[in-house]
Amino acid sequence: MELPAALRQAVDTLLEGVPLATLKQAAETLSQRYRAETRDGRLHLADDLAAKAYLATRLPATYAAVRASFTAVEDARNDFVPRTLIDVGAGPGTALWAARDCWPHLAEAALLETSPAIRAIGSDLARHAAPVASTYLAADVTGRWPDLQAADLVTLAYVLDELPPAEIEPLIDRLWALTGDMLVIVEPGTPAGWQRILAVRTRLLTQGAHLIAPCPHREPCPLTEPDWCHFARRVARSRLHRLAKGGDVPWEDEKFIFIAASRHPARAAAAARVLAPPQTASGRVRLKLCEADGNLRDQSLTRRDGNAFKVARRLDWGDALPALPPST
Ligand SMILES: C[S@@+](CC[C@H](N)C(=O)[O-])C[C@H]1O[C@@H](n2cnc3c(N)ncnc32)[C@H](O)[C@@H]1O
Repeated sequence: MELPAALRQAVDTLLEGVPLATLKQAAETLSQRYRAETRDGRLHLADDLAAKAYLATRLPATYAAVRASFTAVEDARNDFVPRTLIDVGAGPGTALWAARDCWPHLAEAALLETSPAIRAIGSDLARHAAPVASTYLAADVTGRWPDLQAADLVTLAYVLDELPPAEIEPLIDRLWALTGDMLVIVEPGTPAGWQRILAVRTRLLTQGAHLIAPCPHREPCPLTEPDWCHFARRVARSRLHRLAKGGDVPWEDEKFIFIAASRHPARAAAAARVLAPPQTASGRVRLKLCEADGNLRDQSLTRRDGNAFKVARRLDWGDALPALPPST
């Protein structure tokens, strides 16, 4: 997955003239802070350099994760056509760009962000996101919020891990209150990220939300540690991305987890979700499935299963399954 061309060009322009060694050092510091989930009272994106390191090394991956989460929403709710967006902890506007790509009727976006450095960069990028009229609002979402009308789509991507755990529940309630239709929350695909999403899921269910994706049911999550639910997207690395990260391959795999919940039920309810890369060998495919009855199932199909096998071998990690056709 790649960034939309207009965003990629605007990012390249912002990164022009930043010395590579400086960017590399800032990227390393940022990466250590994210890996350790450092909460020392300082913002990770506290200054212009950290914000630019984020553009070079994290934006492509978080974009891919958010965009993939939106695809799952679109698959389940093809009647959902958002015109308004509220994105919280917006950073450079990742969710705005992904929503604009997924839903061309998006017209207005309010982007809440506490860091002045990334707010300045995000506002600059958002000028290229026509036809969406975007407004960045300075807000620490653990404190006082600006007055906002509910939006069709509300998003929170890669933010929960930066907040004190006690702030999560009140934040989810606030986001849900602002949700006209769909709320999408994305986190890193780590065991800790999954635990946070599980807590969000529980909270949203008590609020009466309909789960849209990835869970095909409202039952307790059937996965148990050390296993955890997550998905992955392959992200193309630009030359600068590669140099700033010191990696040699032109891609990386971003692991992520998300939850999409709505005030309306899914139109195309999934019979199951594929929870791991399907294992294929000649004439056989093995699927790890989370099923609509709340159970986990390891399903093997062979050529003898006819149509069901044909459907199964086209499936990918993260796909929703309609009911598999009966074996023929
Ligand atoms: C990892 S970045 C994610 C940015 C963007 N959502 C994305 O997916 O690429 C987390 C963002 O949340 C912002 N943030 C952290 N705590 C916040 C708070 N209390 N209020 C508002 N924004 C916050 C950070 O400044 C940062 O821009």
